[in-house]
Amino acid sequence: MKSRWCFSMISVFLFTIFSFTDCYDPLDPNGNVTVTFDIIQWTPDGYMARVTIQNYYQYRHVDDPGWKLGFTWVNNEIIWSISGAIATHRGNCSQFKDEVPHCCMPTAEIVDLMAGAQPPNSPENCCRGGVIAAWAINPQQSSSSFDMVVGNLQVNSMLQMPVNLTLQAPGPGYTCSPTEEFPPTVALVVGGRRQEEVFKTWKSRCTYSSYLANKTPVCCVSLSTFYSPQITTCPQCSCGCRPADKTTSSCISGFSNSLETDFVESSNTLRCTDHMCPLRVHWHIKTNYMDHWRVKLTVTNLNYNKNYTNWNLLVHHPGFSTSATTYSFNSTLLHTSGIPDDVALFWGLDYYNTNLLNADKDQVGSVSTEILLAKDHKTFTLHNGWALPRTVYFAGENCVMPSPDTFPMLPSGISTHRPFGGLIIILMIYLNFKLLEL
Ligand SMILES: *[C@@H]1O[C@H](CO)[C@@H](O)[C@H](O)[C@H]1NC(C)=O
Ligand SMILES: *[C@@H]1O[C@H](CO)[C@@H](O)[C@H](O)[C@H]1NC(C)=O
Ligand SMILES: *[C@@H]1O[C@H](CO)[C@@H](O)[C@H](O)[C@H]1NC(C)=O
Ligand SMILES: *[C@@H]1O[C@H](CO)[C@@H](O)[C@H](O)[C@H]1NC(C)=O
Ligand SMILES: *[C@@H]1O[C@H](CO)[C@@H](O)[C@H](O)[C@H]1NC(C)=O
Repeated sequence: MKSRWCFSMISVFLFTIFSFTDCYDPLDPNGNVTVTFDIIQWTPDGYMARVTIQNYYQYRHVDDPGWKLGFTWVNNEIIWSISGAIATHRGNCSQFKDEVPHCCMPTAEIVDLMAGAQPPNSPENCCRGGVIAAWAINPQQSSSSFDMVVGNLQVNSMLQMPVNLTLQAPGPGYTCSPTEEFPPTVALVVGGRRQEEVFKTWKSRCTYSSYLANKTPVCCVSLSTFYSPQITTCPQCSCGCRPADKTTSSCISGFSNSLETDFVESSNTLRCTDHMCPLRVHWHIKTNYMDHWRVKLTVTNLNYNKNYTNWNLLVHHPGFSTSATTYSFNSTLLHTSGIPDDVALFWGLDYYNTNLLNADKDQVGSVSTEILLAKDHKTFTLHNGWALPRTVYFAGENCVMPSPDTFPMLPSGISTHRPFGGLIIILMIYLNFKLLEL
């Protein structure tokens, strides 16, 4: 029994480490951002193309300040006009006498228009300030398009696709494949009774790697249970180490009176903690009923300088394969082949908690929910950390898990399949007090 415990715990731990160092994400193996150029019309000196950025990542969105797409022309092409986006630089257009092109850069860089700035005749899914939703959360808003009129193609030169795509979404981390020709995109028109295909289609696929993004972890996980007074905090130095020298303020202590003044001058905007993560996810096993068990899940924002809009949280845990009720978050299950357990994705409820607000001087920002999970009596146990999550991601970034040997321990000699008696209630009250201090 004991050795099996160790083995299962070690495999959980190894899984966490591997998924963190490897840029391939086993929980979203087909995730990518596909950039498509559809030529929809020829013009006297070139063509008109609809460019679509489709986010196929299940839980990675493109946050404010939005995407920036770059590509390089092969034949001195220029962009006469763009509808639904803009190029960031015009470049040297001095050779054009009659009409000034929108962009003459050999490498064009395009950004989205702001919401509400949508010009007439622009594609429907343009103009959201470059923000793109994750595929599993909001497929209707998981793409962004613009139209561009490309010109200056010399009479006898071959039509060539733009090359060397770059995507910032919004920061670095994406690598795009070479552009390739694909079968032309087909659109259904007249209520689906007629198919229209475009003239030509080119595509490039961009994939994300947190290694390339050079990101230190931004998130860590802490754990507690009703059956143990022990609270497992985030591992020390998960995202950075607290400065040993208290006089150098590279973080803000929550109770300092001089906060207001520090605040403005300091470029460091985190609440001081031993883990120094801007985000902490806390999983508390709250109650064990006859046929159900209850978890409280809390995400805390310890950053004074950032609101996380449209946040999402992914939890890999075997318990989700039975029915679960989430009270204060929106949720869905992801079924990933090759991963034995179900993976649950959570995000905020509209008009309620889609924003995870920044910490201020009185309190941290947080969102939380209770989750009621049905028991599968064949698998459910409180032993060996089974009821604790395997992997947690915040907005696609891996959260640092505590090591299994620090997990809260089940007191020996207690049946784990039956609800507990009075001792547990006392423990729960104690824990709820402790949690308030966390
Ligand atoms: C990109 O994502 C789509 C949708 O999941 C998938 O069909 C396609 O195979 C992916 N492409 C690559 C190269 O992974
Ligand atoms: C702009 O382009 C013209 C011709 O295409 C060239 O003669 C001129 O030197 C360029 N100007 C700059 C500042 O590069
Ligand atoms: C595209 O990138 C490759 C590798 O960086 C480079 O060799 C090539 O010249 C680039 N192509 C253009 C048209 O700039
Ligand atoms: C976060 O949102 C709140 C409420 O909308 C606002 O008062 C605050 O200034 C925002 N903080 C930041 C850092 O943008
Ligand atoms: C839950 O998310 C779905 C998909 O984004 C959305 O259509 C629905 O309105 C959301 N429900 C609530 C209560 O926010």
